[in-house]
Amino acid sequence: MAQDQRLAGKVALITGAGSGIGLACAKRFAQEGAVVAGLDLQAPSGWAEIARGAPTTDFFVADVCDLSAQQEVVAELVQKHARIDILVTAAGVATGGPVHLLPEAEWDRVINVNLKGTFLTAKAVLPTMVAQRAGSVITIGSVEGIVGMEGGSAYNASKGGVVLLTKNMALDYAGRGIRVNCICPGFIETPLLHAAVGAEALSAQREKIRYQHKLGRFGKPEEIAGAAFFLASEDSSFVTGQNLVVDGGYIAGLRVGFAELMGLA
Ligand SMILES: NC(=O)c1ccc[n+]([C@@H]2O[C@H](COP(=O)([O-])OP(=O)(O)OC[C@H]3O[C@@H](n4cnc5c(N)ncnc54)[C@H](O)[C@@H]3O)[C@@H](O)[C@H]2O)c1
Repeated sequence: MAQDQRLAGKVALITGAGSGIGLACAKRFAQEGAVVAGLDLQAPSGWAEIARGAPTTDFFVADVCDLSAQQEVVAELVQKHARIDILVTAAGVATGGPVHLLPEAEWDRVINVNLKGTFLTAKAVLPTMVAQRAGSVITIGSVEGIVGMEGGSAYNASKGGVVLLTKNMALDYAGRGIRVNCICPGFIETPLLHAAVGAEALSAQREKIRYQHKLGRFGKPEEIAGAAFFLASEDSSFVTGQNLVVDGGYIAGLRVGFAELMGLA
């Protein structure tokens, strides 16, 4: 075991591990020496890479909307590894559409996966963390759970719910040694972005979106995994109930065009 493996001996369950942010978290946690279990609707092609060199990796094909399937996953993990130290709830879907145009079924789909799915995964895992009186739960919200976005109705509502559910869980489980924090990413290059608005629309707006991120670019999944690693590790041992915004300055403030006037151009 390499000395710098900061999650050695820890067992992590990551939902949405088949792609994007969840997959990046799985890779990072495995590099840091954790036993990693991924959960998604389908296994990713890169999973063998993660498994190589990692202490143990499991992959479970399951739906975050299915409580009993996730309880079975937890039972299998506990039987195999005796504990679950870290949970990352990264499974998610996106949609676009203002309220008067958004079909009811689309509202239900997004709220079910993003908000109820987070609740159900936490519900499946928390009894184990309560019993062991330790754990770090990391939910994935969004800057869109903090500020509004044109046409973001269902997605923003789902993420706003995740942000507040996180705070509530932090309150409810602090006395049991469990920390619960949320990461709110800005725009990150993953398939989800394309799914939300379509590749063509995304490409047309790319420059404007970049400009809104004060660092001038989209984020990378690995940059969210870095924040998740911090929240999973002992470095964040006094951090709970927080939103860690990882957004390249997206919600830091408005740019109204005064930069040149102020000598910044
Ligand atoms: N990409 C971004 O710009 C961005 C920004 C803010 C927040 N987020 C959030 O980050 C999380 C991860 O998104 P991503 O960008 O990596 O997207 P992604 O599409 O690359 O990954 C999401 C994963 O969730 C899985 N998933 C969807 N529904 C599921 C279900 N019912 N059960 C199990 N797994 C399911 C998908 O199969 C997919 O593998 C999401 O919650 C998303 O809302 C993403």
